[in-house]
Amino acid sequence: MPDGNTPAPHLIPAATGAIPRVPSTIWAQDIAAVAKRRGVDVISLAGGITDPLPPHVVEAGAAALASDRRPHSRGDARLRGAVSEKLSRDNDVSVDPESGIVVTNGAMQAVACALQAYIEPGDQVVMLGPGFFVHYLISFYGGEPRVVLCREEDGYHLDVDRLREAITDRTKVILLINPGNPTGVVYTIDELQEIAELAESHDLLVISDEAYERFVYDGNVHTSMASLPGMDRRTLTVHSFTKCYGLRAGRIGYAAGDEELVGPVAKAFEWATLTGNPASQAMAWAALAGPQDWIEDGMRELLDNRDLIRRRLEKSDLISTVVPQGATFYYLNFSRLGVGEEEFCRHLLARYGVPTVPGASFAGGEMQEGCYLRLPFGGSTDTIERAIQGVQAAAEDAVRGDLRIGSHLF
Ligand SMILES: Cc1ncc(COP(=O)(O)O)c(C=O)c1O
Repeated sequence: MPDGNTPAPHLIPAATGAIPRVPSTIWAQDIAAVAKRRGVDVISLAGGITDPLPPHVVEAGAAALASDRRPHSRGDARLRGAVSEKLSRDNDVSVDPESGIVVTNGAMQAVACALQAYIEPGDQVVMLGPGFFVHYLISFYGGEPRVVLCREEDGYHLDVDRLREAITDRTKVILLINPGNPTGVVYTIDELQEIAELAESHDLLVISDEAYERFVYDGNVHTSMASLPGMDRRTLTVHSFTKCYGLRAGRIGYAAGDEELVGPVAKAFEWATLTGNPASQAMAWAALAGPQDWIEDGMRELLDNRDLIRRRLEKSDLISTVVPQGATFYYLNFSRLGVGEEEFCRHLLARYGVPTVPGASFAGGEMQEGCYLRLPFGGSTDTIERAIQGVQAAAEDAVRGDLRIGSHLF
């Protein structure tokens, strides 16, 4: 018999043990911390706007903390009002601020609560990939992720036949990430229409993760799935202040949609955390309702960073890329080097201090042949320069068969 102090890991369900920790932010942070401890000068690349928050946003957060008032469990009423106006103005999506919005701790929690609320054990959730690693989250709630890998030669755009083939009579949800992380794909309205037709004909819900909705380049247009005719009654829209308004430490996002879709998500949220953080909500309101020039400046810097990488890597014989149409990552293909993803990722970090995430994290267990790494492009020009130089030098090391440093540092 275990005594009262002995942990009882045998009581933890096997499924919980089988789910890894979040591979991108956590794994990359962990190995970057090890590299730093061993003296590597690791650069800081961010997946979004990195400028300091303007005073009106910071002050709004401080005032909310000082007032010590708890917001409604679905989010501060003033914030929900502003979100509803924003959705109508920018996304052509109409939601009731009282019943159609729940403000969450980041878009991540909105997706998690939606999956928890919508799927039952055995339900399948179809995603387009390579995609942000929520397939693990689907498994965590007992669902079965089915990732349809899109092709680099198609710019990671939709292959509707393969999506159709992935849908079975157990499919419950299509989880769409638009713009895409890590590929930067921005789906056209025709593609969204094709996905919408499949959702209609198979009677599926759509969770539309639009965390990067504002990061769209080169005249591409982001369209919200819920704005397509008839799709509002089956689509939950997820947005992120963390990403689109630079509230990185605020950790705030929301889920929005028809009352029938949002109610169960709000329940999952309330049972997990009762109510969101008032300081983050006040900052989100100030960011949404106040001047937008600081965000526009941040967006321009990101675009400049993307273009710098584009100019410097497009002539490379060793690396192939698809220029991201949106979001804040370059998905680099190093397959010509003939090296393993993780080995190359560790080498890049250990020798050049460049943090990346291996492509396998985004493939949902599907085989993605070759070597892909995700490189965020937020940060200063100098940092991006260092990242590019590191990527180029590491590729040359691989050609010379000189990847030793990474493997013996860890
Ligand atoms: C597609 C996508 N959705 C959601 C998130 C999480 O957003 P948040 O930081 O608002 O939780 C991320 C990245 O962290 C992401 O890439």
